[in-house]
Amino acid sequence: MDIEQYLQEKRKLIDEALDKFLPADNQLPIIYESMRYSVFAGGKRLRPVLFLATAELFREDLEGILPVACAIELIHTYSLIHDDLPAMDDDDLRRGMPTNHKVYGEGFAILTGDALLTYAFELIAQTAEKEDKSLVLRSLVEIARAAGTEGMIGGQTLDLFFEGKKIDSQTIKDIHRRKTGALITVSARTGAILGRASEKELALVTGYARALGLAFQIVDDLLDLTGDEQKLGKRVGTDRERGKATFPAIYSEEECRKMVVDLYTEALEYLVPFKQRGEMLKKLADKLVFRES
Ligand code: IPE
Ligand code: IPE
Ligand code: MG
Ligand code: MG
Ligand code: MG
Repeated sequence: MDIEQYLQEKRKLIDEALDKFLPADNQLPIIYESMRYSVFAGGKRLRPVLFLATAELFREDLEGILPVACAIELIHTYSLIHDDLPAMDDDDLRRGMPTNHKVYGEGFAILTGDALLTYAFELIAQTAEKEDKSLVLRSLVEIARAAGTEGMIGGQTLDLFFEGKKIDSQTIKDIHRRKTGALITVSARTGAILGRASEKELALVTGYARALGLAFQIVDDLLDLTGDEQKLGKRVGTDRERGKATFPAIYSEEECRKMVVDLYTEALEYLVPFKQRGEMLKKLADKLVFRES
């Protein structure tokens, strides 16, 4: 299947599920509207697509695990809302729209992030009603870890801590693996876990996603340097202004591009044992690494 068609189909599945799961009722002021504002602002849905594509390597039916796909996207969206706050990256444009706090104010933006994060874990836990409970529990623990101090929050902490400070190559790699790599890796891992992949298969999927996750954030750094604001839907050039810990802050653009290609190549090597079945994950890697938005 053509990757564009595949992405379109999967995004439709994810967006319909998100629409179903996100409360529409307006018994409370602002919060539901604000959650929907950021979730439906037009993200690429990379993480839930990766989750589903990996699950599809091992199972046909995706319906029962759609709440987990949505939960991962909700956690990601919460991380963006908080990342954009004045106390963090202080950005006013996200997914081509004004950032959440620009529309609803900082207080509600913080609460919207909290609400998305909390609801994500409710959705995952509810999956256990129909799916294998032990696999859901394992996925839940892994997602919590990837989102927490061992993963994303740890990375965001280092990101903030090292703002304006000198960094070395080990530190920057650690920041990127945590703040972005962890959620990307766990998306693929939980897809495999809920697909009942063997430990050997799980290790291959993990290797693939780990390389891809790091490459993804290096590309994000490069796009902040050379990308197009219109295409990206977020401001460019802000990393340098804020003295952010990025790959281009310590390597040349050429070196960064080479590292991305090396990581991409490494990712694909993990797919070799899957032969033809790994085709969609390969195409997905192409899309993510050679992207303009
Ligand atoms: C942006 O992620 C933040 C990073 C971790 C680099 P994406 O580039 O996946 O953003 P959306 O979801 O498409 O908006
Ligand atoms: C964000 O990294 C990583 C998150 C966990 C949200 P960035 O701060 O580089 O992401 P953008 O460039 O604002 O999307
Ligand atoms: Mg940031
Ligand atoms: Mg940011
Ligand atoms: Mg960035």
